[in-house]
Amino acid sequence: MMSLPRRRSFFRVHLVFLLLACAWHAVSGQLSYTVSEEINQGTAIGNIAKDLNLNVQDLQSRTFQIVTGSKRTFAEVNLKTGALYVTERIDREELCAEEPKCTVSVEAVINNPLELHRIEIEILDVNDNAPTFETRSQDLYIAENTLPGAKFALSEASDADVGKNGVNTYKLSQNDHFSLAVNRDGGSVSAELVLQKALDREKQHLMNLTLTAVDGGSPPKSGSSQLIIHVLDINDNLPIFSKALYKAQLPENTPPGKNVVTVNANDADEGLNSEIVYSLRSKDQDRILDIFEIDRHTGAITVKGSIDFEEKRAFEIRVEASDRGQPPMSAHCKVLVEVVDLNDNAPEITVTSLRHTVNEDAKVGTAVALVSVLDKDGDKNGQVKCELAEKVPFKLVTNYKNYYSLVVDGLLDRESDFQYNVSVIATDGGLPPLTSTTDITIRVSDVNDNPPRFSEPTININLKENRPAGAIIKTVSAIDADVDQNGKVSYAFLDGISDSLPLSTMININSETGDIVSLQSFNYEEMKTFQFKVQATDSGAPPLSSNVTVNVFILDENDNSPGILAPYSEHGSVNSENVPYSAEAGYFVAKIRAVDADSGYNALLSYHIAEPKGNSLFRIGTSTGEIRTKRRMSDNDLKTHPLVVLVSDNGEPSLSATVSIDVVVVESTGDMQTPFRHVPIKEESFSDLNLYLLISIASVSVVFLLSLVSLIAVKCHRTDGSFSRYSAPMITSHPDGSWSYSKATQQYDVCFSSDTLKSDVVVFPAPFPPADAELISINGGDTFNRTQTLPTKDKVRKMFFLSTVIISNQMSYFEHVK
Ligand SMILES: *[C@@H]1O[C@H](CO)[C@@H](O)[C@H](O)[C@H]1NC(C)=O
Ligand SMILES: *[C@@H]1O[C@H](CO)[C@@H](O)[C@H](O)[C@H]1NC(C)=O
Ligand SMILES: *[C@@H]1O[C@H](CO)[C@@H](O)[C@H](O)[C@H]1NC(C)=O
Repeated sequence: MMSLPRRRSFFRVHLVFLLLACAWHAVSGQLSYTVSEEINQGTAIGNIAKDLNLNVQDLQSRTFQIVTGSKRTFAEVNLKTGALYVTERIDREELCAEEPKCTVSVEAVINNPLELHRIEIEILDVNDNAPTFETRSQDLYIAENTLPGAKFALSEASDADVGKNGVNTYKLSQNDHFSLAVNRDGGSVSAELVLQKALDREKQHLMNLTLTAVDGGSPPKSGSSQLIIHVLDINDNLPIFSKALYKAQLPENTPPGKNVVTVNANDADEGLNSEIVYSLRSKDQDRILDIFEIDRHTGAITVKGSIDFEEKRAFEIRVEASDRGQPPMSAHCKVLVEVVDLNDNAPEITVTSLRHTVNEDAKVGTAVALVSVLDKDGDKNGQVKCELAEKVPFKLVTNYKNYYSLVVDGLLDRESDFQYNVSVIATDGGLPPLTSTTDITIRVSDVNDNPPRFSEPTININLKENRPAGAIIKTVSAIDADVDQNGKVSYAFLDGISDSLPLSTMININSETGDIVSLQSFNYEEMKTFQFKVQATDSGAPPLSSNVTVNVFILDENDNSPGILAPYSEHGSVNSENVPYSAEAGYFVAKIRAVDADSGYNALLSYHIAEPKGNSLFRIGTSTGEIRTKRRMSDNDLKTHPLVVLVSDNGEPSLSATVSIDVVVVESTGDMQTPFRHVPIKEESFSDLNLYLLISIASVSVVFLLSLVSLIAVKCHRTDGSFSRYSAPMITSHPDGSWSYSKATQQYDVCFSSDTLKSDVVVFPAPFPPADAELISINGGDTFNRTQTLPTKDKVRKMFFLSTVIISNQMSYFEHVK
């Protein structure tokens, strides 16, 4: 075969030559043979010599040749036999490719003479090639939603053979979804895949089919290719939740972040079509979305906001699961979240005050306030009991469930409690229970139930005489426990108390301040005491009042000089008394009588001989005023003795009066009246007397005085005269040596006859000015006692002195009465 190009060029040269020869010789013949391709080498195709009527012996000599032109020589002639035989493999497909009739022309050249013969060899096709596909497998991508009937072109198989040995038909392996449509278009046969039944990726996402091409040879040959059918996903599946309804319980006040429940949905699709995104949906969107959130990817629902049983007892959460296909598909589920109550709400107390103040005289049962309680919790946690914290004069009365009235339940007294803080405690039934407290302040308003009150039932005022008018002598004050008008006190004198006294000219009272002002100067000698009542009245409606009795004691001042009584008279005129020359020592010469309008010490008079100084003949009883002789007269004595007697009181400063008496010494005693001549009294000699003796004397004197006073009283009742009504003092001595003075409760009528009275009775309404008031104890009524302890000796002296004064005065009084 390597020498083929050289031989071809050789043929070409000769062919040109032969063509020229042919033009000269009309020698021509045509031979045709047929031979199958792929026939065995050496196989005879035909006998050329015979067919050309040539002598076999001549072949060699006439240089018989086969010229094949450009084509390969696959046959040669046996020059000995003239047979044409196959020298090499004949491949029709190589020689003619796809030509349906494959004919190879060769020239048979013979010389001497030159003859050209055309020989046509038809090469018959043999089914020696199987159909083949370009690739061993082909991929088809078919969406799962493709409708049945859809066709998909498949790549054609090729077969080198021609005619009926070429591809004749296709076959498809057994399957549920596809059939094959075979199209014959002229010589070519193609196949299409026809969808018979809808695909479902979710059932079968990949199909491995075998496509077989079969030729028409006999026996037929076939070739196959794998059809890999990829079913493309279409988002045709909804996500599906594992449950249609999820339930969860959640205690209220669960902190944010706490997992409630996790929902789960699956999508049968793949890829984005199965990728699920969760979200929350709700009708009252805002609230749910404020309170819960969901993880987009995991479906975990967690608390976001505050869970409050009192606000919402259950939530219905709608969850949407969407895949990310185009378009996306979504599904919903419900999550019921039940909120579990905790006792997290204390009861709330609401108070509606009916009145801010309640009168202190309010009756039991008067409603003061309405109390309502509310507990937002449920069940036991929300059941509330109300009570008062302390014992107060109020109580709670149930009206109906959770409503109460606060009513008065006792006596109110503004003066003891003007305000109550009523604590209302509400307790719920939770475990542990919660409580709350509210204070209701109730003011008790005043009612005029308290009269003004004076601190004492009686007020004693000691008032010095001669004080100028206009001074405040006392401020009375009454306290009223009520307030405002009810407690505003005004003062006034009570009418009709001092019927005989023109009270209005003496004193006045400031109705607001209670200041009692004197309108005049008082004179103890005119009036020693008076009494009136002050009424304190408040301004309530109706007003209340109370009285106080005011005793005014005018205190004596030493404003009166002693007055000398008749027959003697005051300094200026000269009185005279006669004394017989023969008078013994102690002879009674005269008695000076004096009175002092003041009282007590101011009226306690003492007598002294003021002139002549150093007088040795006369002496005078300091308290009696009796002038007596000291000794017998002697011839050396003067005939006339001018004496000046000084009568002075014991006041501070002391006031005095003097009286001048000329004592004339006479020889006879005929004219003289000497009633007490033989009654010598040894003054100043009692200092050594036994104390008991003195007390008995004093007691006897008192008894005597009492009986005397009774007698006078009886007497005065029967007698008309110029008597003044007077309160007699009472002097009582006590065994312990003290003495007391009392103004008797009874009124004694003491008789004084102004012209005939020769008494120097000393009257002691207040013998010792009670300036030191703490020593006065008020016993009620009009009696007061004074108890003062004096040095024993002094006491004795005073007792004695008083007794003697009184006794002597009574005696002179009796004289006068007789
Ligand atoms: C298809 O099936 C053939 C024969 O069973 C096998 O050789 C080939 O690997 C398969 N192809 C695929 C993609 O499964
Ligand atoms: C009542 O409450 C008020 C105000 O809280 C307080 O000032 C007052 O002292 C209280 N009174 C009593 C009696 O508790
Ligand atoms: C006050 O005095 C008047 C007149 O004497 C009398 O009617 C009244 O009852 C007295 N009031 C009191 C509270 O004593």
